[in-house]
Amino acid sequence: MNTIASKVNDIFKKNYSLTPHLYFSPGRINFIGEHIDYNDGFVMPAAIDKGIYYAIALNNTDDINFYSVDFDEKLTINIRDIKKMTGWKNYVLSVVNEFRIPFSIYGEGAEMKAGFDCVFGGNIADGAGISSSAAVEGGLAFGINELFKFGYSRKELALLCQRAEHNFPGVMCGIMDQYANMFGKKDHVILLDTRSVEHQYFPLQLEGYEIVLINTKVHHSLASSEYNVRRKQCEEGLEILKKEKGINSFRDIKSKEELLPFKDKMTGKVYDRCKYVVEEIIRTQAAAKLLQQNNLIEFGKLMFKTHEGLSKLYEVSCKELDFLVEKAKENKDVIGARMMGGGFGGCTINIIKKESSEKFLSDATTSYKNKFHVEAEIIQVRIEDGTHEII
Ligand code: GLA
Repeated sequence: MNTIASKVNDIFKKNYSLTPHLYFSPGRINFIGEHIDYNDGFVMPAAIDKGIYYAIALNNTDDINFYSVDFDEKLTINIRDIKKMTGWKNYVLSVVNEFRIPFSIYGEGAEMKAGFDCVFGGNIADGAGISSSAAVEGGLAFGINELFKFGYSRKELALLCQRAEHNFPGVMCGIMDQYANMFGKKDHVILLDTRSVEHQYFPLQLEGYEIVLINTKVHHSLASSEYNVRRKQCEEGLEILKKEKGINSFRDIKSKEELLPFKDKMTGKVYDRCKYVVEEIIRTQAAAKLLQQNNLIEFGKLMFKTHEGLSKLYEVSCKELDFLVEKAKENKDVIGARMMGGGFGGCTINIIKKESSEKFLSDATTSYKNKFHVEAEIIQVRIEDGTHEII
């Protein structure tokens, strides 16, 4: 058991009486396929060794007791009184709430007949674009499913967590983060088709290269509101394409040229969003082939292209992310880099030649500090299994 897991376990034992089950719930990286998981695209995430640890046990009362180690805050709530709150409480309560809602795949909805005690904390930066929210949701959903023996599959749990994020926190996210949280596989990339919600794995072979994240430490408050705006703009564009072109999905458009005749029917912004989505769906399919063939050099070039699209057409980057990607471009040993996740701050993901990594990271973070007066954080990640019990 690592130090954070032991800490969570010890705090549980100090505060509550029964022996808990322990779970690890990971954050994720995404190699390519950004902002297309809610547009029927392909995405290529992987679960990482940074995430949230949970200690949970039934308590034979009608109360749920939460203790967030990272915020050093507690919450006690009756199982019949689950409601929307703020901050971390919204995320955990929304998960509990989802279990109670009748939903087609769950039949009548699950009945939680008793309360439980729950301590959680982790080593995943909040707002860094590595999905601490999916890690919070996934670990709790997995734990509840085991504790109450509900028997839901990993896919059902991922979908439940996605709905939980839509509901109380109100972020209309796609399925990528929750899926990667449940389906991560050590040293493998997930190629997820978000249209069919089916995936395949392939091994990541990085010989001579490594993946490093650089956290800008920028956490724009617009991130969730602008996220929902992007989603609406894509829906608006798709409605026009459905009507004018008779298609059902962005997947049915095979080139950006096919979009051109509809430019006049859309606002400039909506057209740009659609153009990005169509290009990124095509790019991600090409990227998947390249990664499977182990052609990292060509794969990396597509990452730079994705960044350009996210910055100029989708407009979810910021000057700090653009700066770090420019630094990466200037260094020939960084073969690919781009902003990762929802955007407006958070991390860049970089593929760097191992022997040049230290120097690049030191140069990039020094120039970043000179320019923005902020210490960027270097985050080394390993690719790990999805949410699981720690014995
Ligand atoms: C956030 C969302 C995901 C996905 C990414 C952008 O992480 O939770 O569903 O849309 O942004 O690719």
